[in-house]
Formats: sequence, structure tokens, C-alpha cells
Amino acid sequence: MLGIRADAPGGRGGATSSQAVVPNVDKPGVGDPRVLTASRKRSGRLAEFGARVRTQFFPRKVRRTIVEVRRRRLTYLSSARLNRLAELCLDHERAGVPGIIVEAGCALGGASIVMAASKAVDRRLAVYDVFGMIPEPSDEDGEDVKRRYAAIRSGDSEGIGGDLYYGYVENLCERVKLNFASAGYDCARNNVTLVPGLVQDTLKVDERVSLAHIDVDWYAPVWVCLSRIEPKLSVGGSLVLDDYHDWSGCRRAVDSYFGSRSLDAYRIDDRAGSLVVTKVRHDA
Ligand SMILES: C[S@@+](CC[C@H](N)C(=O)[O-])C[C@H]1O[C@@H](n2cnc3c(N)ncnc32)[C@H](O)[C@@H]1O
Repeated sequence: MLGIRADAPGGRGGATSSQAVVPNVDKPGVGDPRVLTASRKRSGRLAEFGARVRTQFFPRKVRRTIVEVRRRRLTYLSSARLNRLAELCLDHERAGVPGIIVEAGCALGGASIVMAASKAVDRRLAVYDVFGMIPEPSDEDGEDVKRRYAAIRSGDSEGIGGDLYYGYVENLCERVKLNFASAGYDCARNNVTLVPGLVQDTLKVDERVSLAHIDVDWYAPVWVCLSRIEPKLSVGGSLVLDDYHDWSGCRRAVDSYFGSRSLDAYRIDDRAGSLVVTKVRHDA
């Protein structure tokens, strides 16, 4: 059994399978993401405490936005995961990491709104989503995903805090635009582009990327995002895989993608619950 244990704090707790696919791993350090998260167990509590302290130094507008998107139930992310995303945006601004920000999978837009609050206005944020019913999983996804999809298709899925499930909302793209505006981050004024459609059809990355929040749940779209975004990731830039500990297909896509690469080129942590992969040099 390979891969990272699903025991991170702040998770959604959706996945039941712990099987991961990292082919032919017999040498620590190559193709086995566990190696880079092993130290987490030792330093987990300290890291969480440190993360909480660091949020006190976020600009007030960022702290306020995180509280607001959670209060308005615009995101599935825990405070810890939102804090981590904001921290990455702020760190990249400070360090001058070049590139655009991408979110793949925005639902009601909460995490994207937090990134819009945390980035410089001249850095573009491109947000990709079907803005409708979540697409069907594939054979690469496990039973956990298939059960979840069946519940969504049946029309019985509940949204956050008992709200209408986002996949059943009409004109979701318009709703997300309004959510940005009412949070104080009008898309046009803040250099945010919403791109409707399947990421398989719409995601084309010609520029460098400083940060990508990949939150499309299941194997095929996660794989597409990794294969199109990761080669464009700047040194110092990060990929955030929100569902690594939550859905089997996502974990499988990540393990499979990074399984054929030297992990020396990345720094990996999952202290907030999502998996953060930061490129430390180009020769992956
Ligand atoms: C878990 S939600 C995203 C949550 C969001 N980031 C937040 O802050 O709450 C996953 C989103 O990905 C979208 N999605 C899933 N597969 C997709 C695909 N192949 N192409 C485009 N969007 C997709 C879903 O429709 C949904 O809006």
C-alpha cells in the first residue's frame, strides 16, 4: 500500500479507499510522495500552531474575506485550507514568483474569492468550472466516487449547511460572478476570468503559473490539470491538490503523475489537509 495516509487535519473525509498508485516504487525519494510528508507526523502540531499564528499577520482584508466566505457558505474548504491558500498567494507576491493563478473547480467561488483578496490586482486569476452538474467519473475512480456521483445525480445532494447543492443552481456562472462582486472583488476590476466548460476542453495554459488550486475531485480532470499546468509551474510556485486525501480518483491521478518524476524537484506538505506541491527546481 503506497501513497500518503488519509489522516490530515481539516479534511473532508470523503474517501474510503487508501490504495494509491505509485508504480514501481522501490527506492525512497523517487515516486513515493510519502517520503516528503513523513516528517509531518513529527511536526504536525507545531506546524498547525505556526500556521494559526501566521494568519494573524495576514492583511485584514484577507482575514475578513476568509471569515466572510465561510459565513456565507461559499466554499467547501475548511478555514485551515483557506488560510493555506491565502498564505501561498501572499508568499508568492512577496517573493515575486511569476505567473498567473488558476483555480480548477470553483463551485460557488469561495476559494477563488479568497485568492482574489490575497493576490496583487495585476496578477491574473483564471477560474475554470463547468458551472453546472459535476461531470461523470471514469473507470479510474473508485467506489467512493461512484457512490457520491450517484447521490448527486439522484437529486438528493444537499449543499453546504443545508443550502441548495451548487450543481442544481441555475445560472451558476452568474451566481459566482455576483458572489465575487458582493465580497468586494468584482471580476473585471480584479483581473479574474471565469472560464465555463469541461477543463478537458477549456484548460490551455500558455503562460507561467505561480499557483494552481486543483479542486475538480475526480481522476480525469485532476490528471488533465496536472499534465497541463505542472510543466508551466514557476520555480517557487505551488500546486494545491484539494482532494488528495478525500477522493480515490484524485489520489490515483496525483500518485500516478508524480510517480514517474523525481520528487527532489518538489517540496510537499499536507499540514492544512490539502496536498501542496511546490516546485523547487525545474528538472522534474
Ligand atoms: C468540490 S467543488 C469545488 C469547490 C470550491 N473550490 C470551493 O471553494 O468550495 C468541484 C467543482 O469542480 C467542478 N468540476 C468537476 N469536474 C470538472 C471538469 N471535468 N471540468 C470542469 N469543472 C469540473 C464541479 O462542477 C465543481 O464545481
